[in-house]
Amino acid sequence: MTATATPMKRPAKPAIKLTKLLINNEWVDPADGKSFETYNPATGEVIAKVAEAGAKDVDRAVKAARKALETGPWSRIDAADRGKLMFKLADLIEKNKEELAALESLNCGKTITDARGDLDGVLNTLRYYAGWADKIEGKTVPVRGSFLSYTLRQPVGVVGQIIPWNFPLLMLAWKWGPALAAGCTIVMKPAEQTPLSALRVGELAIEAGFPPGVINLINGFGETTGDAIVVHPDIDKVAFTGHVDTAKIIQKRAADTLKRMTFELGGKSPNVIFADADMEQAVNGAFHAIYFHCGQCCTAGSRLFVEEKIHKEFVDRLAAKAKGRKLGDPLDPSTEQGPQVSNEQMDKILKYCDIGQKEGAKLLLGGKRHGSNGYFVEPTVFDNVKDEMTIAKDEIFGPVVSVLPFKSMEEVIDRANRTNYGLAAAIFTKNIDKAHTYAKAVKAGTVWVNCYHIVDTTTPFGGFKMSGQGRENGEDALEHYTETKTVTIKLG
Ligand code: NAI
Ligand code: MG
Repeated sequence: MTATATPMKRPAKPAIKLTKLLINNEWVDPADGKSFETYNPATGEVIAKVAEAGAKDVDRAVKAARKALETGPWSRIDAADRGKLMFKLADLIEKNKEELAALESLNCGKTITDARGDLDGVLNTLRYYAGWADKIEGKTVPVRGSFLSYTLRQPVGVVGQIIPWNFPLLMLAWKWGPALAAGCTIVMKPAEQTPLSALRVGELAIEAGFPPGVINLINGFGETTGDAIVVHPDIDKVAFTGHVDTAKIIQKRAADTLKRMTFELGGKSPNVIFADADMEQAVNGAFHAIYFHCGQCCTAGSRLFVEEKIHKEFVDRLAAKAKGRKLGDPLDPSTEQGPQVSNEQMDKILKYCDIGQKEGAKLLLGGKRHGSNGYFVEPTVFDNVKDEMTIAKDEIFGPVVSVLPFKSMEEVIDRANRTNYGLAAAIFTKNIDKAHTYAKAVKAGTVWVNCYHIVDTTTPFGGFKMSGQGRENGEDALEHYTETKTVTIKLG
């Protein structure tokens, strides 16, 4: 999730050739011929019409995935060869990295620098899990009596994967990586806002040699296409990233088929700045925490707790830095902030800016749309926010930070934990006792000390409380893509 790529030249405009559904390694039209438009959020222009899958198409994809899992070449492939295919896919993505980054930037609005950084994350993820493919092992168990017992780790089955628009390709890689390593087959629905980059990677998966039915891509909307995945009786597991309210709907809709579920949901992550922190590092950290990818990150540091002693100086420096942020065309390598992903998201954020002012928070900077073309929102700072204000409680998913002054460690831990969310948290301090005390006490799946948004494919990632269920990344993710089978043999 960090932008590691160095600024380079503007990429060539990517061609958009793929707009159909990918089922059984074929590009097909949906059964009822429906389609929907996808946009460039920097201009609001339609850039392509994409096939929209209905329940019949989902069923067709599930059948292909089931066949691949049970009787196709994938069901007999050596684990090491699954890994080889994944390495090959990563190599092809690397070869086409510039084109994919440009497509991602065009459709999602993220800056080309961030898109290149995401692609590095995609490669790391696929290669990390490719290495796991032949290392998913069972155990022999010292069972009582004259028996031999051992366990097999087998693929959980056909998995439905529903992903959002903020990191389209990175979320794809986080979900494909452990699923493919474990030997599952995939029916994936990319977000309706950002369908294009996944289709191009689907084409590369065919080129890499994945057998028919292993990877299926079906575009469409959540309430229809997504729901058809969730209720399908022949899908064994659903992995979802998105809004907490969507997860609640999905959990209810999946109840009748008792599918396995993993959820990676949102947050209202507390970022705590103590007076003893390195001021420059903390200002930069707080800035990156909220403004990276326009605040459209599940881990965004949107509750900024600042120790009272340094409150004024800190907020002034943060606002000055935010004021200098360069907004504009995301494909221009010098641009620092692109548009929000959609008109809907922009309107939602601006509504929260109004609510913040009405409830009495002090608007220090921003709070408005930037320009009249595309879906840009000014970097926004609200000061003197109170815990019970709406902007301190709801996930805004935009470049809007709430500054909350505090006095003591005890107080800030209590306030940081007073939320239903628990995805990430951070602390900036030079004091080792404070760092460890906070890291232990704060209820979050990830804690950063003197840094922010450091997410690596090797470390488990997920939420406490209503920020999720299960973990992605690292070895932990494999747990959620395998079933453990105990085999017991009578001896003698
Ligand atoms: P969403 O949760 O509705 O959409 C995420 C994915 O779920 C999309 O692929 C969508 O088509 C699908 N989906 C939606 N309803 C569904 C249903 N009933 N059954 C199955 N699939 C369904 O999120 P949305 O509407 O795009 O954004 C709304 C808010 O959600 C954002 O403002 C943000 O607060 C949060 N969000 C959080 C993300 C995260 O990374 N945790 C990512 C995207 C959004
Ligand atoms: Mg939604």
